[in-house]
Amino acid sequence: KTMPTGFPKNFLWGGATAANQVEGGWNVDGKGLTTAEVVQKATDRKVMSMNEVTKESVQAAIDDQTDKLYPKRRGVDFYHHYKEDIKLFAEMGFKVYRLSLAWARIFPKGDETEPNEAGLKFYDNVFAECHKYGIEPLVTISHYEMPLNLTLTNNGWASRKTIADFTRYTEVLFKRYKGVVKYWLTFNEINASTWGFTGTGAIDSDLSLHDQMQLRYQALHHEFVASAIAVKQCHEIDPEAQIGSMLARMQTYANTPNPADVRAAQLQDQLNLFFTDVQVRGEYPEYMNRYFAENGIELTMEAGDEQLLAEGKVDYLSFSYYMTTITSATDDVEQASGNLSMGGKNPYLKSSAWGWQIDPVGLRITLNEFWDRYRVPLFVVENGLGAEDEISADGKIHDDYRIDYLRQHIEQMKEAVKDGVDLMGYTTWGCIDVISAGTSEMSKRYGFIYVDQDDEGNGSLKRMKKDSFDWYQKVIASNGEDL
Ligand code: BG6
Repeated sequence: KTMPTGFPKNFLWGGATAANQVEGGWNVDGKGLTTAEVVQKATDRKVMSMNEVTKESVQAAIDDQTDKLYPKRRGVDFYHHYKEDIKLFAEMGFKVYRLSLAWARIFPKGDETEPNEAGLKFYDNVFAECHKYGIEPLVTISHYEMPLNLTLTNNGWASRKTIADFTRYTEVLFKRYKGVVKYWLTFNEINASTWGFTGTGAIDSDLSLHDQMQLRYQALHHEFVASAIAVKQCHEIDPEAQIGSMLARMQTYANTPNPADVRAAQLQDQLNLFFTDVQVRGEYPEYMNRYFAENGIELTMEAGDEQLLAEGKVDYLSFSYYMTTITSATDDVEQASGNLSMGGKNPYLKSSAWGWQIDPVGLRITLNEFWDRYRVPLFVVENGLGAEDEISADGKIHDDYRIDYLRQHIEQMKEAVKDGVDLMGYTTWGCIDVISAGTSEMSKRYGFIYVDQDDEGNGSLKRMKKDSFDWYQKVIASNGEDL
């Protein structure tokens, strides 16, 4: 073997979105209400609101038939703009478009025996539009949402019953989209389940911290099993398709060379890698037995679960990468903000306006570590800079800060490819501006394409190319050489 000199010829360049952040059309064509659509905008942009729900707030959201307080009900109206949006993606040269499906468009209440044809029809059209331009859809089956009815009846993933509802849904998908979708992911950021509602669909705000963690790890176990079943279904129904797992990677460094700090960082890292250890290697890692024992967490497993996990190993590993943190054995480090799993502030790094620490070299480190640990193809399915964009006097959006961020990350990704890492592709987050997952803001923008809408939902929804649009087009055309 020789050292690669750049990205492989068939490298999958593209962008990513999620149904609950782009689609809108929240109450049309038979769609049911989703868990994402009962979450309100954050009052402090450095504090996520995505898990802030109670039984009362959910009931109030059900009673409210408007989208005023619930930005994820409106998204950016991709539901009615998808042709225009995919055309713009094609113009940038996308090879792949990562999107998710709204489970409640297909099974409005989650527990029906038959799917909603109108929901499936919408995705038929979206996939056809992608293929028209030679864009491969990369589909996340559940990205931070589920039919709200499953929260009301099962408390989401807290109940084992939800596995059957999910696998009925995935069977429909694999049969319908055999030969149409080549790349699947089961759960977005599977580790989000230990953070609460957005991952588990379970309301646990009235529980003690211990009982919350007990519930979340049990819910996660159900998701692991459901994911493994989906992998098996996918392989049986469409052997040509590939199905992966998706982790919010939270690389951490030791605060100092003090071995106590290094060990604390190692444990922190294990607690992040645990999820992919299960999904890629097919079994719970030993270090979690100790963690569960020391934290009084007892998992209920059924006979056959372990075998399912072993049989449902994923084909590839995808992940989001936005930041890194540092870990100390004591409480002596200042905390940084981040997508929920917080960590220490690193004096060598700059942060975004939301406090997310920017670390391109960390992406190379993460890619090498993943490759060493798992030896399965990797896919960076989210990366990007959330920033407020302004329309300049010349009517354009000069987002050179975004170009800088992406350029530096792509450079490091290329280094990792030269290191020998098997990397399938790269989809930047929010290739078109979307509603933020963590804070439900519109003003936190990631896109190459600007959408005229403010935090309150006012605006024409007109799409505009930012400077980064032309830049990314050039990056893709040169296969990552012209940065
Ligand atoms: C990831 C999620 O955590 O980060 C996306 O998978 C999300 O859904 C992205 O949008 C960026 O987070 P935020 O809070 O800035 O939208």
